[in-house]
Amino acid sequence: MTTILDVAAVKADFPLLKREVHGRPIVYLDSAATSQKPHQVLDALNRYYEEINANIHRGAYHIAEQATTAVEDSRAALARFVGAPETTEIVFAKNATEAINLVAHSWGRTNLDSGDIVLLSAMEHHANIVPWQQLAAERGVEVRWIPVGDDGHLDFSDLDRLLDGVRLVAVSAASNVLGTLPPIRWIVEAAHAVGALCLVDASQWVPHQPTDVTAWNCDFVVFTGHKMCGPTGVGVLWGRSDLLNAMPPFLGGGSMIRNVTFDGFKPAEVPARFEAGTQPIAEIIGLHAAVKYLEAIGMEAIRDHERDLTAYALQTLSERLGDDLTIHGPNTVEDRGGTLSLAYRDIHPHDLSQVLDQHGVCVRAGHHCAKPLMTILGVNATARASLYLYNDKADVDALVDALVDAGEFFAL
Ligand code: ALA
Repeated sequence: MTTILDVAAVKADFPLLKREVHGRPIVYLDSAATSQKPHQVLDALNRYYEEINANIHRGAYHIAEQATTAVEDSRAALARFVGAPETTEIVFAKNATEAINLVAHSWGRTNLDSGDIVLLSAMEHHANIVPWQQLAAERGVEVRWIPVGDDGHLDFSDLDRLLDGVRLVAVSAASNVLGTLPPIRWIVEAAHAVGALCLVDASQWVPHQPTDVTAWNCDFVVFTGHKMCGPTGVGVLWGRSDLLNAMPPFLGGGSMIRNVTFDGFKPAEVPARFEAGTQPIAEIIGLHAAVKYLEAIGMEAIRDHERDLTAYALQTLSERLGDDLTIHGPNTVEDRGGTLSLAYRDIHPHDLSQVLDQHGVCVRAGHHCAKPLMTILGVNATARASLYLYNDKADVDALVDALVDAGEFFAL
């Protein structure tokens, strides 16, 4: 069933979307890089600083208790939002990158050694590549790759051989370049069948679709706040409690200890064990406001809206620009999200994005922190338009008009 989302009302919640750039209304199509923030999130940040600004898990005074409660309420809300069985399985990190580094340092350096294998997909973001390559350089761990086919899907034809000897499979639930949505539940089952764990980078999934880590049956999930209407500076690691409880701390410092003596320290329980130092308190509280905002609209409604809009974009782009335009990745909305990496004639993506900018249209040009994938696509860069809940057909039309204009400009 398709649920209806009132985009005009949603748009009105986002102060930045009211501004103009270069004398044109802004058309923000770079939510895969970071989303805009509704006033509900901005208000929550302000309220924290204006009313309860104090450090958490330390003071016994009223506002310190209020701040602590607000942070723990956020943790509980995030657990519910992603279907985590236990609130203590939610660990706050700086971003998804730090969350993956946490797993690589803590679980990886405890459990992986020379000859062990980590299997990644070839469409991963550098955040889900480099930490494993660092481990490979340090420990002699082997990194293997699930290839990407011409259709933008992962190619599982050789999966049995690739999985042989693997200890961890680490894959994205949604590609930040191609929009591809790999079959996570199926990948997790394949990993578990050979005794491997599965880490899911859900940075481009959680903002756009209902998430249920229990249904995925995976072992670790990471995502970031700033792509889901929340502030920058806060991300989340969800991990199965038995795994987290067996993992040593990642960063050492205040708050992550049970005791410290001249001889050493005893780590705190999970999740405090992984949250060294003063946390991004305002941001964690802001992220709770973002979760409430998304829940009030409904993740099913957001998914359905983006699916409809992506279908409209795929159709309009191909009707208006024809063979001059390549849209990398799957071409049906059933197996892709609203991230559209474009190649238009032989116009360099950076040139293209500059012309689009003159129309007020914001897209990201570059390798999107996925350089291995760029080599598979045979390009150095793409121009990437990415859709979110506040985009509408007029935004897509503005993109297409601007692309047509760029085509005329560079034909001169
Ligand atoms: N990971 C973000 C992107 O894909 C920054 O743009």
